[in-house]
Amino acid sequence: MGGDVTRIRPLVAGNWKMNGLGSSLAELRSLQDRLAERPVPEADVLVCPPATLLTRACDALAGSGIALGAQDCHPLPSGPHTGDISAEMLADAGASAVIVGHSERRADHGETDASVNAKAKAAFRAGLFAIICVGETEQEKRDGATLEIIRRQLQGSVPQGARAENTVIAYEPVWAIGSGLTPTPADVAEVHGFIRGELSQLLGQAESSCLRLLYGGSVKPANASELLFVPDVNGALVGGASLKAGDFYAILSAYAGRATG
Ligand code: PGA
Repeated sequence: MGGDVTRIRPLVAGNWKMNGLGSSLAELRSLQDRLAERPVPEADVLVCPPATLLTRACDALAGSGIALGAQDCHPLPSGPHTGDISAEMLADAGASAVIVGHSERRADHGETDASVNAKAKAAFRAGLFAIICVGETEQEKRDGATLEIIRRQLQGSVPQGARAENTVIAYEPVWAIGSGLTPTPADVAEVHGFIRGELSQLLGQAESSCLRLLYGGSVKPANASELLFVPDVNGALVGGASLKAGDFYAILSAYAGRATG
């Protein structure tokens, strides 16, 4: 889709989900050591640990160039919402990004496109960038409804005010998450091209053409090169393989020495 997309700086983001204790900070140190030894200047790196580790991770990552993100936020800045965490609190803890609308939250917590939209707006308000997740279930794929589902999720979840500088879209087929299954590169190319076209309708061609589109779902060192260089893929959202510094670095290093624009 046009020349601009080839100049997008890729992002490799690690989503630790509900994994990680204080001892896991050693993985962050190990990641830093690997990057110090063999830098990958071609891509940005983000790690999203559980909220309990944010402040310690922030200290551990100081000066490393590795950015810190969170996995969810409440739409409001503060108030009587026991157990919830606002985008402002995440920013205060050192996060620069937050994942919103991950399929596990849509499934486990009944999050709708409208609530995801409100959370993305909260992220913008707090100065965070939002990683907005979309993706079809196995049944929806079998029904041939993938593009229709993605269109509906994008229309509902991406707020007005979303721009390339504050928004990343992650395409994560639900059936590929944690399963070891991945779509073919041709399927990923089709969906990512479709997403860029939809974003062009929603946000305008200028924003759409430089907004980062991540692929997520069973990205591993063994398939990273195949998936990361698909047209319109500008990085990855990595779950299980982000928990071990060696695997995460191996995925990231798929970009080493490769021209990304
Ligand atoms: P996975 O998870 O890499 O373990 O499949 C990806 C995600 O859910 O973000």
